[in-house]
Amino acid sequence: MSLLKKLNLCGTVQGPAKFGVSKGDEPGHLGVWGIWSEPSVEVFRVVVKAHSQDRAMTVPTASYTFAPSKEQSFIQSIETSQEFKQFLVGSDRAQTGQVTLEFWLDNNRTETLNYTLPEVIKYLRGKGSKAPSHAKTSKEYLVQDTLVVASLAHSELKAYSEKVKAEIAEKLRKAEEERKRIEEEKKAALAKAQAEAAAKAAKPAAQVAAGGVPVDRSKPTLSPAKTAIFFGSSTGNTANVAEMLKKELGSVDYLKNITDIHPADLTVVENIIIGIPTWHIGELQDDWAAMLPEVKALSFTGKKVALFGLGDGKGYADTYVDGMAELLEPFEKGGAKLCGQWPTDSYEFKKSKAIRDGKFLGLVIDVENQDNLTDKRVKSWVSLIQKEMGI
Ligand SMILES: Cc1cc2nc3c(=O)[nH]c(=O)nc-3n(C[C@H](O)[C@H](O)[C@H](O)COP(=O)(O)O)c2cc1C
Repeated sequence: MSLLKKLNLCGTVQGPAKFGVSKGDEPGHLGVWGIWSEPSVEVFRVVVKAHSQDRAMTVPTASYTFAPSKEQSFIQSIETSQEFKQFLVGSDRAQTGQVTLEFWLDNNRTETLNYTLPEVIKYLRGKGSKAPSHAKTSKEYLVQDTLVVASLAHSELKAYSEKVKAEIAEKLRKAEEERKRIEEEKKAALAKAQAEAAAKAAKPAAQVAAGGVPVDRSKPTLSPAKTAIFFGSSTGNTANVAEMLKKELGSVDYLKNITDIHPADLTVVENIIIGIPTWHIGELQDDWAAMLPEVKALSFTGKKVALFGLGDGKGYADTYVDGMAELLEPFEKGGAKLCGQWPTDSYEFKKSKAIRDGKFLGLVIDVENQDNLTDKRVKSWVSLIQKEMGI
């Protein structure tokens, strides 16, 4: 058998491993590949050498190291060196020369493949077989630091490969960590945006107590009783009148600013006395405005409601105590019976929505213009509602 016939022309099976050459990515390149099934085969370095037939002349064309990929395979297109190209110029060598590929493996083992020069030249010209499709290049795992590798002995290559693999793994771990961090950040931003949107869509007066526990405003804080005065007051005038009423009425179970109660507290008494100043030109006082949507959901069946309102008949003559009407509506719709309607005589204003059947919906107090009448009005109204409400 001639020497040529003994040569492997398309790779060889070496136990659990297969190595070979193939056409490169471009003319002048040689493809080198390896596939193995056991981790111990690990290829650390590939040395490509060209020889004249009598081996009198040898030219190293390339020296590569591989920190093997996860797939236990590699493929690399390598460019032939200048020396190798010059070597090919001699026509006799081009016919009779040989190329050796040394695959430096784990445990100081080396597998060698021999090719005829014409066969390798065919590959360099982009002809010949391709590498097996399952020979894969994992860019992260392939190292081509030729200079460093060339300086290392075979026995040192494993440690070098381990070091490189550890560096690569660390790089991948950091990249994965960063990816997760960005993902978490995105998730947190999304959750925050969703929570803000949900909070906006929630009931206007929904509250959260200190400590983050949600307050259930549908539950009363007060126990059932007979008579209560509930008021809203932005600058204190209505609060003062509420105090006067309590004093005059005597038997009042609760006197509460509505900022201190739950909407459901409005339903715990039989006689509900509510006070409101009109603000913002014909509008509800702010605290009542905030609570009103919840008041609309309550039932006042069997309850009596009496109303007092403050306003400025000269400053806001066309919207005089208008807020009283808007506030009363949900109480009456909820089933409460109105008590304490009040004559409009002696008041100075032009227009008011708080008038029904020629009478105010309840007691009207005007501290800006008629404060001298406040005491008298309070006293008279108290005796009226005492009768109507049975206080
Ligand atoms: C900006 C502003 C707007 C007001 N709008 C009205 C109104 O439209 N109709 C009305 O009768 N009184 C109006 N008032 C008068 C208040 O109702 C009055 O001052 C009342 O006594 C305030 O009560 P409080 O101190 O309990 O909030 C307004 C007062 C201010 C300062």
